Amino acid sequence: MTDSVLDATLEFDDIQGTLLRHRPDRYFGAYILYRIDDPAAAKSSLDRVLPHITSAADWEEPRPFTLNIVFTFQGLRALGLPPDALESFPTEFRLGMAARKQILGDVGANDPSNWAPVFGSEQIHIGVVISTTHEDALQTPLGLAQNMRGVTMLYKLDVGAPSTGREHFGYRDSINEPSIIGSGRTPRPGQDSIMPGEFVLGYPDESGSIRALKGAESFTRNGSFLAFRQLHCDVAAFRRFLRANARSKDDEELIAAKIMGRWRSGAPLMLAPERDDPQLAADSERVDNFVYESDPRGLVCPLGSHIRRVNPRDGLRDTIVDPKIHRVLRRGAAYGPVLPEGALEDDGVERGIVFIFMGTSLAQQFEFVQQVWINNGDFVGLGREKDPLVGSNDGTGTYTIPALPVRRRLTGLPGFTIVRGGEYCFLPGLRAVEWLAS
Ligand code: HEM
Repeated sequence: MTDSVLDATLEFDDIQGTLLRHRPDRYFGAYILYRIDDPAAAKSSLDRVLPHITSAADWEEPRPFTLNIVFTFQGLRALGLPPDALESFPTEFRLGMAARKQILGDVGANDPSNWAPVFGSEQIHIGVVISTTHEDALQTPLGLAQNMRGVTMLYKLDVGAPSTGREHFGYRDSINEPSIIGSGRTPRPGQDSIMPGEFVLGYPDESGSIRALKGAESFTRNGSFLAFRQLHCDVAAFRRFLRANARSKDDEELIAAKIMGRWRSGAPLMLAPERDDPQLAADSERVDNFVYESDPRGLVCPLGSHIRRVNPRDGLRDTIVDPKIHRVLRRGAAYGPVLPEGALEDDGVERGIVFIFMGTSLAQQFEFVQQVWINNGDFVGLGREKDPLVGSNDGTGTYTIPALPVRRRLTGLPGFTIVRGGEYCFLPGLRAVEWLAS
């Protein structure tokens, strides 16, 4: 299928914008969660919000804000989706994120019993995601969100790009993203081109079949599933760990790069193995243009580093696993103030990242990445070793940095990220939202 054929058929005006389009680098926003108390009044509220939902067609038009809306299984039920349509939704979505804790590795400090109480309670029905490039412009969409009737606002998380321009641990983020065939975007060098059905329901997927939910085809067309996940970042613990294991300041940066697979500037180890290269990092044509073929043992980029785990690229060529069917679309947004530079003690202030991971199969995409690639090392011969930055480590984890003549092994890995909560949602097309509102 060629790009031009799909250009004509992906219905940008029905697809919610966040699925196909990026948020700007500088952003302010909010994630708001609601419970439906009075379905009829909630429907009228949806009807009022509908004209403000940003589609993929109008995402890049000059506009003061973007707004997208999602529904949990309980939310679709409360709004009257018929039982046979509800039954066609996959089990993991119907059960919700908290019920999938064993698969996701949400144990110990990450266990749902430690999450903010609203999560896992079946009370969350609707979620609204707002984003702007200027803080002042938040007033209008916040007004809309606050004036929704028939619902109770249960949770609101304000987000905003940190002043450093990096995520809390100090890395530049949002570099790699699959390119969706038919999205109207030309892939950058190194970017995977992936069939739209992996991310948008109703279109051909990587196997060539149309990805659809039998029994709810028209309601789910142009929709997708979304895992919402709030992760606390223990930045002080991360800094102390680097300090305790490094021989020098430069070595701290090297260990940080070996943990991520990229220097904090974003320059990938595969293209800048010895030292950081900010010029390379700033070059969008080069920053993502690499594979792991020349480094089968991970001597340059460790097999267990964050980016090599969550997207092994060509690294699993000799296995039956096709990484393209396990890709997720990621939109991360930081919350909370930056920990002052150099501070090694926690200041007790809540900070972290709220992610949305999108795709047409939560089980095959988000859950697979969490279970098989992040929290298990078997797929690269690392046994029980987990992702050093985002795995569910508990103070007993190890991290191997292959090197010659001897590898380095870091021990006593704490959990640098802790799950504060999350939920599985459905991101419908605009016509489906209109149906829910009627
Ligand atoms: C607090 C938690 C996390 C932080 C701080 C973090 C940070 C980063 C950074 C800095 C990058 C490199 C920039 C880029 O390639 O875009 C990255 C890449 C990536 N992350 Fe994470 N991440 C986190 C959690 C996760 C989780 C939970 C997943 C999946 C379930 C994930 C999936 C990915 C993917 C797919 C990439 C792109 C890798 C590539 O294609 O090379 N991340 N992350």
